[in-house]
Amino acid sequence: MLTLHAGAIARGELVALGALGQRYLPGQSIRTLADVDHPERRHLKLALSILNTSTYRGLPRGRTLAAPALTQWFTAVCAADPFLRETGLVLLGEVASASVAHSAFEAIAGVPYQHTEMLGAIWREPVAPCLRAGERAITMAALIHRDADGVSFAELLIARSGLDAGAWVKRLHEVTLPPLLHVLYRFGATFSPHAQNCLVVLRDDVPARLVVKDFVDDAMISSEALPELADMPADVRAALGEGLEATLLAQWIQSGLLVCVHRYLAEILDERTGYPERAFWGAAERAVAVYQERFEDELGPRFGLFDFEAPAFVKLCLNRVRILGRGYADDPERPVASASGWIDNPLAPAREAAR
Ligand SMILES: Nc1ncnc2c1ncn2[C@@H]1O[C@H](COP(=O)(O)OP(=O)(O)O)[C@@H](O)[C@H]1O
Ligand SMILES: [Mg+2]
Repeated sequence: MLTLHAGAIARGELVALGALGQRYLPGQSIRTLADVDHPERRHLKLALSILNTSTYRGLPRGRTLAAPALTQWFTAVCAADPFLRETGLVLLGEVASASVAHSAFEAIAGVPYQHTEMLGAIWREPVAPCLRAGERAITMAALIHRDADGVSFAELLIARSGLDAGAWVKRLHEVTLPPLLHVLYRFGATFSPHAQNCLVVLRDDVPARLVVKDFVDDAMISSEALPELADMPADVRAALGEGLEATLLAQWIQSGLLVCVHRYLAEILDERTGYPERAFWGAAERAVAVYQERFEDELGPRFGLFDFEAPAFVKLCLNRVRILGRGYADDPERPVASASGWIDNPLAPAREAAR
């Protein structure tokens, strides 16, 4: 970094402050760091010039600089919602940010995007201060972890909880699906709830609440003219762009949670505990149905608009972009996941059976 920005440093536009002297530990994403000695301090997300899946892991300037405003909008609307308060959903706000342009690279027309997002930082609230007595948080990815002997973390949690697999899974679905769906239906907004962006809060080893992070980089809104999105501040709207059509927005949750996490978890639990995959999806559908019954009067039309139980949804592929799409071309635009084919919605059969 020093070499790359030597010109700006020599001109006095950038000042190298040297090492902080604190000990930071990278998390699962590698580029988000936590202060080891002071876990209550904000996490630090940094730009990396590593190509992982389809993109370089830089920090795109628009979203990075808009992070505090986006945080404010999301946390304000969620905090004002009685149901979300009841679920105890936690959003880890990205409360401060910085992004530095490289004057030479950015003077080049059509410069590959990775050269425009090389130096930046986002400060994010840590989860520790959000936890109540008796609670602990795990990354959702832990649920699909298995050790070298094939023993799964989830089966051990279930065993320690004293619940049977069915009762434990029911709690997991009740804790994860209703808050995510509520944000989608109520505000026409969603997160990318894949295993690295979510934490599950446990109480006595049973899922109790959901924590969502990275909702600035990965948040998305609907392109529908919903009244709930109408009074969004201009800077927040500008950072989020035009939004996505409603069915695609629902697929954010389907891809992130059902495809990236639950597909594996359902299989693991079937194999390790004998809890059938079919029952796993049935329990998920039941959690959705119970939630929808409660909010039918208020949000009924939104259930069809953002159809979470459609028979199939589009398959989004990340590696495909690299392998079959852009290859290693240096393009000015960040690549987007390529849609290819359909996935049968695992909730649809359970929905049909319940009718
Ligand atoms: N289970 C997982 N699911 C999705 N991404 C993961 C997982 N584990 C690690 N990752 C990595 O995390 C990175 C995405 O997180 P990132 O946006 O960089 O951090 P943060 O969520 O802290 O803001 C990707 O590089 C991805 O490869
Ligand atoms: Mg992430």
